[in-house]
Amino acid sequence: MTRILQFLFISLFINLITTTQVKASVDPHTLSNIDDVKVSHMSLDLTADFEKKRLSGSITYSLNWQKKASKLVLDSSNINIGSVTARCNNQWKPAEYTKQSKDEILGEAIHISVNNQCDRVKLQYHTSQNSKGLQWLEPPLTAGKKHPFLFTQSEAIMGRSWLPMQDTPAIKLTYDARIQTPKNLRALMSADFNHKAPLDGSFSFTMNEPVAPYLIALAVGDLHYQGWSKRSGVWAEPVILEAAAKEFEDTEAMIVATENVFGPYPFGQYDLLILPPSFPFGGMENPKLTFVTPTVIAGDKSLVSLISHELAHSWSGNLVTNARWQDLWLNEGTTSYLENRILEDIYGAPLAKMEQVISYQALLEEFKELEPEHQGLVLPLTGIDPDEAFTDVPYTKGQLFFLTLEQHYGRKNIDSFLKNYFKHYAFKTITTPEFVSYLQENLLAKKSSTPLTIEQINEWLTKPGLPETHYHPSSEKLSNIDHAIKFWKANPLIPEKIQTKNWTTQEFVYFLTNLPKDINAEQIKVLDKTFKLTNSKNAEISLAWFPITIHNDYRASFAALAEHFKTIGRRRLIVPLYKMLAKNPSQCEWGASTYQQARSSYHPLTQSTIDKVFDCKSQEL
Ligand code: BES
Ligand code: ZN
Repeated sequence: MTRILQFLFISLFINLITTTQVKASVDPHTLSNIDDVKVSHMSLDLTADFEKKRLSGSITYSLNWQKKASKLVLDSSNINIGSVTARCNNQWKPAEYTKQSKDEILGEAIHISVNNQCDRVKLQYHTSQNSKGLQWLEPPLTAGKKHPFLFTQSEAIMGRSWLPMQDTPAIKLTYDARIQTPKNLRALMSADFNHKAPLDGSFSFTMNEPVAPYLIALAVGDLHYQGWSKRSGVWAEPVILEAAAKEFEDTEAMIVATENVFGPYPFGQYDLLILPPSFPFGGMENPKLTFVTPTVIAGDKSLVSLISHELAHSWSGNLVTNARWQDLWLNEGTTSYLENRILEDIYGAPLAKMEQVISYQALLEEFKELEPEHQGLVLPLTGIDPDEAFTDVPYTKGQLFFLTLEQHYGRKNIDSFLKNYFKHYAFKTITTPEFVSYLQENLLAKKSSTPLTIEQINEWLTKPGLPETHYHPSSEKLSNIDHAIKFWKANPLIPEKIQTKNWTTQEFVYFLTNLPKDINAEQIKVLDKTFKLTNSKNAEISLAWFPITIHNDYRASFAALAEHFKTIGRRRLIVPLYKMLAKNPSQCEWGASTYQQARSSYHPLTQSTIDKVFDCKSQEL
């Protein structure tokens, strides 16, 4: 009897814990208490100290109480707190706080004792050497090599390492900032500011549109501006400014193309900022100021789909935002669909289709390696660091989902669905179940000769692989490349006979990724000599070529490969190559020592990813 009672008691207790956890927040990657109190505005007053490599200063939080409660809980990671004060009943006074012990993934929650009488909290702090969301670059790692550079990366959960805050996309807030810098440098933020502010060491920013915390961004460097239109231009170091302005000159046309279909651009200004090559991403859609890797400046606009991608996030991501990282596909899948539509509009369907096929192939390859539970659109991320767990699935499977909807309901319907969706959820956040019910009401209810059922939609969300009825990308241009590959297979020593004169980057990438895996020493040498692949300056061609040279141990390319590793820190361009080297016992040591030489130039995020890659000793056993 007592046993039964005990059991009942325990299960009731477990139930209580789980229900309170679920209620506490829809986002498992925050320790903050947004159901009690929401921060509606932050006022930053920070100094960028390049000598100590730290940000220091204060944040003042405006509180919006949701219920009667007695604390404010903030996310933080490697933050040193100086003091905490609160304004309660119109009076500022010290507030008590405790820092919780560290959670490896979520960091250290800060519990501040305040109640509903308090409407402001002010926290003095500085960041540390281990703040993962910051990269402090010495001059040699910049384009101009004369001035240092600092940039932040907050998505997904690294914002808390430089801004103690409620670090969850389940909330949106406005902010303002004063940033102090050395006098010869300029600070930029994802906000409104005076583009012509004098270099007097102090810069002011205001962000009046509410955004999710992961979209707050800062960069400091020798930065100059070139505009294309009233609302759009590019910031870069002077030595690359002109090249960047030329490469991305179609940006304004891209904004207009997106507005024509999906509704007005919601954030006023749209600028790009070109970062040093150690930037760990291709691009980051910081509002009003997209951060861009310099590795997409190819000289021929061949890699500008990255700009259409980041621009598209202004609607899918920045305006309408995934409420938690499991739902990342709502940001990235919708954006990948829009990205391709923008590309089609500006550069034509043949290019857009080539890009579709290339990403489709990459997704199918990825499925081969990925556990089934990571193949649904909704990612099982609880207990996992979202910054280490991203794949092509939310991007490309998400894009295919929208292409499939388009196939079943027609482009006109999908366009008006998305336009209304952006309007309906503007400046709000959304979870997958909310999206699905909106979809049911506003698209699935539409007439179609081949309607989709809710079961079919759920298959996309939770099942591995692709549903049977998925859209199959195809490209005439790439079918021609299949002929070239066939020719090469029959005549591997005369690649000069293949007519490549008018090939675009996409055609070369497809050609290289679809060659047979095993290529002998002579064949690979001729291939390299004919198309000058080892020395290609196009990052996507290098990314397609180096796996071939690594797989076939073509050492003539390794000096260039080492240079690639030393000069580029964008994860997507280096991690797959390091992984290949790590797997091959005869290349592992070379890979590990090349990594050791390059490591200090990488962003902390890139370092933590690649630190896990090499374990050459275990291979010898
Ligand atoms: N928002 C992402 C980058 C991101 C995603 C950062 C998740 C942290 C967590 C950005 O829009 C993106 O997708 N960048 C891609 C480029 C894009 C063209 C696919 C990248 O960096 O490779
Ligand atoms: Zn994206």
